Amino acid sequence: MTVKDGGQLTDLSKIESNHAMETHRDEKTIDSVHWDIPRERLPNHIAIIMDGNGRWATQKGLERIEGHLRGMETVRTIVEECSKIGIGYLTLYCFSSENWKRPQHELDFLMDLLKHYLIEERPLIMKQNIRFRVLGRRESLSVEVLNEMDESTRMSAQNSGMTLALALNYGSRTEIVDSLRQLGNLILQGKIVPDSIDEEMISNHLYTQGMPDPDLLIRTAGEMRLSNFLLWQISYAELWITPVHWPDFNAHTLYQALNDYSHRERRFGGLKSN
Ligand code: FPP
Repeated sequence: MTVKDGGQLTDLSKIESNHAMETHRDEKTIDSVHWDIPRERLPNHIAIIMDGNGRWATQKGLERIEGHLRGMETVRTIVEECSKIGIGYLTLYCFSSENWKRPQHELDFLMDLLKHYLIEERPLIMKQNIRFRVLGRRESLSVEVLNEMDESTRMSAQNSGMTLALALNYGSRTEIVDSLRQLGNLILQGKIVPDSIDEEMISNHLYTQGMPDPDLLIRTAGEMRLSNFLLWQISYAELWITPVHWPDFNAHTLYQALNDYSHRERRFGGLKSN
């Protein structure tokens, strides 16, 4: 498969052969992490803003797309690691509804990479018993991407392990708008009355319907903002922000985040427990 970047063609099959090397390297990294965090202190749902692919590449004198490629490697590593240690839900911010403002060649590359990932990753998703789902608006995504997304969702629907949710063409505000439209229609149809709307009903009409709220939100590359990601759902999430760029994020960085989380005291607005 070839993709165009700024007039140059990038061969994704070449990337695949480099990829074996990278995966091997990452596996070695994973092996050296000693997971000594008690299971009950691990988050059930981790959400990640995967930022810094472009900066990682630029700092190395590479094209931005190289950063996305390495970012895809990190996705593989972290999905595998989270599934291995028994995380219930992992939500990854892959493409925001605002990302369409990027140059066309980068958009084309990201969409091809995504298709490639969805196809290549299916056997591993099945092997690891992962349930796959997508959060976001379907409009604006190509038929090819939609088909691959739907196939992975359908194929893994009966799996009972970790849920992997990719936020694609996702924006928290559009998610809230979509849920309000649904509730408005239910009122018009006489199926509910306005007074019956409560927090649970709103949660049940978000793209994340059926998923628990994230316990931990990780953001890479150091920016101190939420970037329109799961704004309703992260109300009580613990935040962990690292300067590490997403392509350099690995099992060790994940361990640091989870170890830090395991020592946090969550009060949900209540008082310190003794
Ligand atoms: C942020 O980096 C990353 C993205 C907008 C895309 C995320 C994509 C990946 C991690 C790779 C592909 C993933 C899959 C699942 C196939 P940025 O480009 O905003 O970096 P910058 O802020 O340094 O410019």
